[in-house]
Amino acid sequence: MKRVLWILGGTILIAAAIALWTASRPVSWSEQEIAALRSLWIGSLPPLPPDPSNAYADNPQAAAFGQALFFDTRFSANGKVACATCHLPDKLFNDGLPLAQGVGTTTRRTMTIIGAAYSPWLFWDGRKDSLWAQALGPMESPVEHGGTRTQYAHLIDEQYRAQYEAVFGDLPDLSDQTRFPRAAGPVDDPEARAAWEAMTLADREIATRIYVNMGKAIAAYERLIAPGPSRFDQYVAALLENDREAMQSALTKDEVAGLRLFIGRADCIKCHNGPLFTNNEFHNTGVPAADGLPADDGRASGVDQVIQDEFNCLSQWSDAGETGCADLRFVVSTGEQLAGAFKPPTLRNVAESAPYMHAGQFSTLAEVLQHYNHPPFAPLGRSELEPLGLTAAELAQLESFLRALSGPLNTPAELLASPQP
Ligand code: HEC
Ligand code: HEC
Repeated sequence: MKRVLWILGGTILIAAAIALWTASRPVSWSEQEIAALRSLWIGSLPPLPPDPSNAYADNPQAAAFGQALFFDTRFSANGKVACATCHLPDKLFNDGLPLAQGVGTTTRRTMTIIGAAYSPWLFWDGRKDSLWAQALGPMESPVEHGGTRTQYAHLIDEQYRAQYEAVFGDLPDLSDQTRFPRAAGPVDDPEARAAWEAMTLADREIATRIYVNMGKAIAAYERLIAPGPSRFDQYVAALLENDREAMQSALTKDEVAGLRLFIGRADCIKCHNGPLFTNNEFHNTGVPAADGLPADDGRASGVDQVIQDEFNCLSQWSDAGETGCADLRFVVSTGEQLAGAFKPPTLRNVAESAPYMHAGQFSTLAEVLQHYNHPPFAPLGRSELEPLGLTAAELAQLESFLRALSGPLNTPAELLASPQP
């Protein structure tokens, strides 16, 4: 009897010891992996990079003015379209559509604005090199806001004179409508274009200066839209503090397995790196053309457009000296790798931002992962992807990890709505 008790007691002791050992086992991430996890962590997000091309980038009054413009539908051809029509704050500054809808339909999907201030290039093809220059694109695009430069100048004069002058100084007198017609600008519409070309160069510059300042105010607002921590970030914070319990409550086993694939065998981190999960460069991943649209050559055209852009960093409208425009001066402008290349989107909050890719080609994360597992031939140029050979279970783990990248914005609520009553 005694002997049996001894054996039983011993077995229990050994089992307890094994359990203790398992629980206290050091976390199975190598030093190198921990460095990778830390690099993706939101705690590694640096302060906003300065924008030397925008002297008002960090001016709070400019941001308040920009916020009003962002939500104001009067700045459009039909009085119905604002930036917030496609960039909805309650949809993470996205719209949930495959192709954006403004005055007309665009050929690309809306991108989020969260974290965009960190990117040297804007749009899927990087055809703009600052947030303020970017903002001036949709305003004159016939399928987005569809309005004109002088229409906007008159609106600023009539609706926002005090706010404008508090930031940018005196607004010139625009009351002479033979000098400043109601609808004139360098746009597709032949009448508005003819009216623009009939204006003197000096008057065109007056209207353009107001237009540029609108962009600079909107950019100051957009710089305040920042991402917040997700469960993944809680996991990394816990890992760095060696708090195993907090690690376990932050991510499930499957999510951790997906994370391991993300930075390991699936090598997603090659392009989706840094705390925003994008390197902000351009890559060809062979995404098929959207139904009914021609293959999109992406960066190949985008780079030519940014070099020629009326509002680029080296333009007369930029506040940067030449030294402030290194990205543009040293931009890679030729090479076959630019054909069909796009900017990798941030993967933060990706679970809530379907559909996916530059023209909403995939409607679920599972479809996106199938694409990476079995990459097709690229419609243009050459895809950088190699088949991954992941099992269905591994793809599910990767997907559950992507779903752990959601979190609330790190942006005060009053910035997420129109300041107008
Ligand atoms: C009709 C819908 C629509 C409207 C209106 C609109 N956008 Fe967009 N936005 C888009 C689409 C579509 C893209 C991607 C287009 C492309 O790459 O060609 C985009 C891209 C962007 C980007 C680039 C993000 C990045 O990471 O590169 C920013 C910033 C942005 N928009 C801000 C604005 C601002 C500011 C306004 C108002 C002045 C505005 N948008 C109006 C649909 C819209
Ligand atoms: C060679 C660079 C590269 C690699 C490697 C890569 N991606 Fe991407 N990713 C991109 C680019 C570029 C896009 C946008 C492509 C487009 O729209 O045509 C993208 C788009 C996505 C999207 C869609 C996001 C959205 O909002 O539309 C998801 C999700 C995604 N990638 C996840 C992953 C995962 C998971 C992996 C690893 C299996 C991975 N990526 C590997 C470059 C890359």
